[in-house]
Amino acid sequence: MKQPCFALNSPDFWHEEKELLVLGFFEGLGEFCFSPAGEMLLRVYNQFPSFKNDFKGKFGQKMLLRLPERDFALRQILFVGLGEREEFDLERHRELSAQITCYIRDLGIKSFGLEVFKDPADAERVKATVEEIGLSLYQFRAYKKTPEDSEDIEKINLLVEQTKETKKAFNQGKVLLENVCLTRDLVNEPANVMTPRELSMRAREIAHNSQEKITVEIFNKEELASLGMKLVLAVGQGSQNEPCLIKMEYKPRRMRNPKAPYVLVGKAVCFDSGGLDIKSADSMNDMKGDMAGGAAVICTLKTIAELNLPFWVVGLIPVVENLPSGTSYKPGDIIKAYNGKTIEIGNTDAEGRLILFDTMAYAKEKYHPLLVVDIATLTGACMIALGYHFAGIMGNHPEFIERFKSAGDESGERVWELPLDKKFLKDMESKIADLNNAGPRWGGAINAACFLQEAVGKDQPWIHIDCAGPAYLGRGGSSYRPGGATGFGVRLLTQFFLNQLKGKKQKVK
Ligand code: BES
Ligand code: ZN
Ligand code: ZN
Repeated sequence: MKQPCFALNSPDFWHEEKELLVLGFFEGLGEFCFSPAGEMLLRVYNQFPSFKNDFKGKFGQKMLLRLPERDFALRQILFVGLGEREEFDLERHRELSAQITCYIRDLGIKSFGLEVFKDPADAERVKATVEEIGLSLYQFRAYKKTPEDSEDIEKINLLVEQTKETKKAFNQGKVLLENVCLTRDLVNEPANVMTPRELSMRAREIAHNSQEKITVEIFNKEELASLGMKLVLAVGQGSQNEPCLIKMEYKPRRMRNPKAPYVLVGKAVCFDSGGLDIKSADSMNDMKGDMAGGAAVICTLKTIAELNLPFWVVGLIPVVENLPSGTSYKPGDIIKAYNGKTIEIGNTDAEGRLILFDTMAYAKEKYHPLLVVDIATLTGACMIALGYHFAGIMGNHPEFIERFKSAGDESGERVWELPLDKKFLKDMESKIADLNNAGPRWGGAINAACFLQEAVGKDQPWIHIDCAGPAYLGRGGSSYRPGGATGFGVRLLTQFFLNQLKGKKQKVK
């Protein structure tokens, strides 16, 4: 879809006649946020005495004032309640930015000016405002007969104090917005279009358009066989669309980690029917979204390359379809993984951990990475535990887990740690092989992570992000958060790298 155009403090705003200016107030009406509007506000106050009685600044409260033509160049002001000043954290800020954008769009207004509430010089808030405005307007319209582009907001002017930091944050926000939308597009494509082949072509295209910053390699079925990735092949063998492995690499000339890369591994099951352990119709409904982790990794590489971040990063994305057929892998099969461990198939619907297992083992052997991060729509259990607002996080490196928690809070893609205790591994044992891919229902998200841990062992720093809940909202969504794919992961992973850059808590043993 067409993105709206963002301007940073465009001087035209005060001269041109614009449709709407948004101003935020904290509860109690004591203070407004941004001074250039102050003088005009006083005049508004005087003209509309009733305003003071009706508008209390409660969080989310909105009041639209149409201004008399003779007095103001501006036609309309939207007053927005920010609630209590102390409670107006970044998360509330994000929510409100999205809410008011949809409110304005539904009024049929095409352009508006908006303060960055609370502190217009706060770079994080500038970034968040750009992202949330753009993401709230996102729609997947590729297959709708009647394009509704004419109803979209076209221009947004952010009224922000211009500093080096706010300009940088503004640009970062725009790059992130574009790439989160791209991730959503990849995930929202139906599975008859987004086959393993198609996803690999999209990754190729991204690399080709990256001004040689990103290199890409696609391993086909035969190449996977000679590498020894039998788990990836097993999961993919039920479909006529063959599996593959996408490798993307961003290796800038100047980097902070010349010795070893960060490796991002993303689950890309283009459709998860469950295989022979077939899912119910209801649970199968959203399973085109089971490649959201892979899409997030592809688009994170694109983002960090566009932001020229000085880190060597490799993305590995195993891509398959999990389907039932005469050639499918079967419950009870025993398959040898890339690292030599034998896996008994307890359930063909626990396919994500199998393709990640091979890929993570390969990553460890080939790169000895500084850190392996896997991101996957891995378990329904994680969704039951944490719902839509948090991804589960586990791993073997407490310091990196803490960094991901901070990156989550800052980026708006939050994570919650589950206890990765070795007790859970007992449940993944098999009587006739080294491991079983399915454990009991209870604690299913942790069982899966325990299984993955066996791919890399204790000494390889590794983080696991289970985004089954937040990656895909189905038809759910809300009035200001579109349903379907969310693009979860791109902002979280990019924020992690941005924080590594700040040098804060830089040293990792
Ligand atoms: N792709 C699913 C997990 C999932 C469920 C993602 C709901 C998004 C929404 C995964 O492959 C799966 O089916 N996991 C099983 C594992 C079980 C058979 C051990 C599950 O969670 O039920
Ligand atoms: Zn499955
Ligand atoms: Zn799956």
